[in-house]
Amino acid sequence: MSDGVYDSIVEAIGNTPLVRLNRIVDGSAATVYVKLEYLNPGGSVKDRAARAMILAAEDAGELRPGGTVVEATSGNTGIGLAAIAAARGYRTIVVVPDKSSREKIALLRAHGVEVHVTPGGRPAGHPEHLRSVALRLAAEIPGAWFAGQYDNPANPEAHRRTTGPELWAQTGGRITHFVAGVGTGGTITGTGEYLKEISGGAVRVIGADPATSVYGGGDGRAWYVESVGHYLHPETETDEWPDSYHPEIVDRIERISDVESLTVLGRLAREEGLLLGGSSGTAVAAALRIARTLGPEDVVVVLAPDSGRSYLSKYFDDDWLGRFGFPLYGPANEPTIGALFDEVAGSTLRTIASGATVAAARELLEVAPVLPVLLQRSASGPAVVVEILGVVTAASLAGAPDDAVVTEYADAPLPVVGSTEPVRRAAERIADRPGPVLVAYEGRAVAVLDGARIIAAATNSK
Ligand SMILES: Cc1ncc(COP(=O)(O)O)c(C=O)c1O
Repeated sequence: MSDGVYDSIVEAIGNTPLVRLNRIVDGSAATVYVKLEYLNPGGSVKDRAARAMILAAEDAGELRPGGTVVEATSGNTGIGLAAIAAARGYRTIVVVPDKSSREKIALLRAHGVEVHVTPGGRPAGHPEHLRSVALRLAAEIPGAWFAGQYDNPANPEAHRRTTGPELWAQTGGRITHFVAGVGTGGTITGTGEYLKEISGGAVRVIGADPATSVYGGGDGRAWYVESVGHYLHPETETDEWPDSYHPEIVDRIERISDVESLTVLGRLAREEGLLLGGSSGTAVAAALRIARTLGPEDVVVVLAPDSGRSYLSKYFDDDWLGRFGFPLYGPANEPTIGALFDEVAGSTLRTIASGATVAAARELLEVAPVLPVLLQRSASGPAVVVEILGVVTAASLAGAPDDAVVTEYADAPLPVVGSTEPVRRAAERIADRPGPVLVAYEGRAVAVLDGARIIAAATNSK
């Protein structure tokens, strides 16, 4: 058979192109290539791990004809598994967190997958945690097999066998730096191990991690770019890292904020013609930082896991970006919350951790009687909007015993508007909930505004 003709999609996975970055490298002397994993049949790097895990399970007799594939995933592994399972006659059930993009969930359903959406932010071991739900389903369904990408050795092995050798061959052995994000760790571990071995230890392996992720030394607080990093719920008793991740293979980790990932993502689309997913923005941001420190002989390869098509309703959507106070993709062309209200700049909000006592909350409210106290999962630092559990005021605590846990007396979270959001759009969204609103800047709560003032400002600007 000639090149490029395959018996099934199983053989069509891998051998993705490397494309050089030309316009966003900002004068770096090093060469930077992006490996375009969205060109796999299932649309992401995860096709590689999905294929390896299914083939290994068949070999081990764990997955038999007519069986059911079950997985916990932010989406892409499920899509890869579903495509391969369909071609081999298996049914697929996937458990996804509710922060997965609408597009990924729709893609899973389009592949005939039975999708279970679980609430995000549950500690490991909680019965509603992604993995617990998937394990329960796998135990209940006859003939079911749990893929378990976080601990399945076939995941990193797929990259040792395919991604690593491809990069070595495509660069003619000239690759000096490999950059990738870390989710399960399968990509960076397998590819990194292969490249180190074949180069006699010369290739440097760089992890690209969301700034607050635990992998890179962050406190585990939430972030907005999907599918990479390691989140730490404050109620997690023992923090376990996936077996698929071998941290000792990583020479350094670059910590990248959401806003840096999103800015690079926009530049990739507009200046390089590459419409990529959020974790590609994180990885390329890290690669650009590294490239700035290197010379003309250096060849940096950064792996881009998937396409921006899966995130059109998030990272490329001004409504989503504006709501969290991220820079808009297009120009606002009208007054924004941040431009109109001076309070948004430099304000510090009082927060209290979800496990604190009513007495501790009362003490805080004495210092700031007019400001509600935000109840957040984490103990200190700026409150991540998606982690704010509620609001506490003196009134909501009236009659509560001092030693009670504050969470039990909290009022519902406030509506959120973004600092970059057009005032008119914010007013529309809060119209049915007058009263105080939270203002988000780059995903963090920075101020409380009177909603009536936003509505009045929108009316006056008409
Ligand atoms: C979009 C995206 N980026 C990055 C990753 C992380 O890759 P790995 O799990 O191999 O560390 C994943 C994994 O699901 C992904 O779907």
